Amino acid sequence: MGFDQYHEPPGELSAKTRTFARMITSLIEEAEAIGWYEQRLALEKDREARAIMRNAQHEEFKHFGMDLEFLMRRNTKWREVLQDILFQPGDIVKHGEEAEEETG
Ligand SMILES: [Fe+2]
Repeated sequence: MGFDQYHEPPGELSAKTRTFARMITSLIEEAEAIGWYEQRLALEKDREARAIMRNAQHEEFKHFGMDLEFLMRRNTKWREVLQDILFQPGDIVKHGEEAEEETG
């Protein structure tokens, strides 16, 4: 088991910060899995295999969402920024710039 999620000496970090770091690593892993399934689905021809992969990717969407929600609940600034960007119709870059202005 690796301990790469820590960028600083783990013994100097609080339990809260270590949990946050683990959940960040989990978020990254879920995002990677979504991307891997996307690539596999792009190439796989077998209908049954595709159905299983699509189901598995859907699970990863859920895992990613739960990780992200956990992290946003623990970091209110992050939550504020994402509230201005996520699920907003229109120009993504413009929403990002507005979020930066409002919460910067
Ligand atoms: Fe997962």
